[in-house]
Amino acid sequence: MKAIVYHNYGSPDVLKLEEVNTPTPADDEILIKIHAVSVNRSDWEGLTGKPLYARMGGLLKPNYPILGSDIAGRVEMAGSNNRQFQPGDKVFGEMSGYQGGFAEYACATGRILALKPANMTFEVASAIPQAGVIALQGIRDKGQVQPGQKVLINGAGGGAGMFAVQLAKLYGAEVTGVDNTEKLDFMRSLGADHVIDYTREDFTRNGKQHDLILDLVAYRSAFAYQRALKPNGSYFAAGGSVATFVQILLLGPWIRRTTGKNIRLLVVQRNRKDLVAITELCEAGKVVPVIDRQYPLSEVPKALRYLGEGHVKGKVVITLESHNKT
Ligand SMILES: NC(=O)c1ccc[n+]([C@@H]2O[C@H](COP(=O)([O-])OP(=O)(O)OC[C@H]3O[C@@H](n4cnc5c(N)ncnc54)[C@H](OP(=O)(O)O)[C@@H]3O)[C@@H](O)[C@H]2O)c1
Repeated sequence: MKAIVYHNYGSPDVLKLEEVNTPTPADDEILIKIHAVSVNRSDWEGLTGKPLYARMGGLLKPNYPILGSDIAGRVEMAGSNNRQFQPGDKVFGEMSGYQGGFAEYACATGRILALKPANMTFEVASAIPQAGVIALQGIRDKGQVQPGQKVLINGAGGGAGMFAVQLAKLYGAEVTGVDNTEKLDFMRSLGADHVIDYTREDFTRNGKQHDLILDLVAYRSAFAYQRALKPNGSYFAAGGSVATFVQILLLGPWIRRTTGKNIRLLVVQRNRKDLVAITELCEAGKVVPVIDRQYPLSEVPKALRYLGEGHVKGKVVITLESHNKT
C-alpha cells in the first residue's frame, strides 16, 4: 500500500510517499481501507518532535513511521476475535498512539471507533474524532458550561477550538475566541461574541476575567492564567508546552487552595460514547465541522505545512482515491 512515511523528526520535507507492507490485523483488530484522514496539531507535533511530549516512545527518532490519527473508512477484514465490526462496515474514529492514518490501510482494535452515520461523508467524519472529543470534554464535562457564563477559548480558530466555540455557544455562554489575525472572521463565523488577535493582545493582561478558559495552546505561567479567571473560575490546558504543564501540576493545587481558582490539565479520555455524542450534534446541525481544505494522500506534506504555517481554519482533510462520498 501507499503511505506517507518518516524516519526522523523535522519539517514536512522529511515525509515521503512510499510503498510499504499492508498491515495484517491481529485477532482483536480490524483492517480498514481508509477513505479520509484529517490532520491534527498532534500530527504536526509528532512530525517535529515538539513539544517534548510528542517524543514519548521515541526520544531521538519517531517510534512509528506513519502519522495520522483521525480516520474514516471501510472495514476490509476483521480478526477472529473482533466481534464489534464486520467487513463492509463504514467506521471512523481516532487511531491509538496518533499513528498509522496517513496510509491506504490501517489496523485498529475498533474499541474507540464507531459506525459512520449513513448520511455523513467520510471527509466530515474524519474531521470530528480528536478535536470534537477534546472540545466536548473541555466544554461539557470539565467546563460544565452554564448559560450566561463567560468562556474564553485560546486557539479557537483551530480544530478543537472550532468545536469548542460552537459547543460553548450551544450551552448559552458568552464566548471569546483567541487566535491569529487570519482567523478572526472565522471565529466570529463560528459564533464567538468577542475575538482577540494573540499577535496583538495578551488575554491574560487585558483586565478581563472568565468563568472558564479552555486552552489549546498553553505556553504561559499558571499565574497569568489565574489572573484571567473570575473567582471560582476554571482553566483547563489541553495542549501547549511541557514547562507550562509541569507548572500547572505543581502550582495548580496551591492556587486552588489560596484563590479558589481551578487550574488543571485536560487529559482527554478517548471513548466511543463521546465520539458518538459529538457526532450526533454534528448530524443535527447544532455543531458544524468546518473543513478548510482537502488534499490527496501524496500532498500530506503540503497539508502539514499549511497547518504549521498557521493558516488552517478548522480542519484540513486528506482524501484517498475516489470513492462514493458516504
Ligand atoms: N489533552 C489531551 O488529552 C489531548 C489529546 C489530544 C490532543 N491534544 C492536544 O490538543 C492541542 C489542540 O489541538 P488542535 O487540533 O485544536 O490544534 P490546532 O488545530 O492547531 O489549533 C490550535 C490553534 O491555536 C492557534 N495558536 C497558536 N499559538 C497561539 C497562541 N499563542 N495563542 C492563541 N492561539 C494560538 C493556532 O494558530 P496558528 O495557526 O497561529 O498556530 C491554531 O489555530 C494539540 O496540542 C494536541 O496535541 C491534547
